[in-house]
Amino acid sequence: MTDFTPEIVAFCCRHCAYSAADLAGGGRISYSPAVKIVELPCTGRANALEILHALEKGADGVAVAGCLPGTCHYIKGNTQAKHRVTHVKELLKTIGLEEHRARMINISAAMGAQFVVEITSFVDTIKTLGPSPLSGETRNTRTGSET
Ligand code: FES
Repeated sequence: MTDFTPEIVAFCCRHCAYSAADLAGGGRISYSPAVKIVELPCTGRANALEILHALEKGADGVAVAGCLPGTCHYIKGNTQAKHRVTHVKELLKTIGLEEHRARMINISAAMGAQFVVEITSFVDTIKTLGPSPLSGETRNTRTGSET
């Protein structure tokens, strides 16, 4: 591991992952402050462009966290999200980035501790990969650093 602190965006369904993260917080189970949660009504709302946009704008990794298989409140939102994340992984490989910078997570609202396990695993993966080449450019642009 390095001392690199990644920027992680987690698109979380409000019915499951967002509630699980809230449950973890209520239970004082901490996870990395690198994780920035974006609440969605359903992961079916997360399209490939939004995931890629997060990476383009400085995220080192993007997680999409939805309901367990067969429990999406909108029937197929989590299934669609899984396909989109798989598609994003293929696109990342095409442009020379690591596919592991995108991950689908399935979790229930009652799984607060498991949410922390899953998101910490993702943070560790991104730490191992190091900064995204795209995020480095964004950070340099923000700080005015020269490359
Ligand atoms: Fe949770 Fe669709 S309502 S993923």
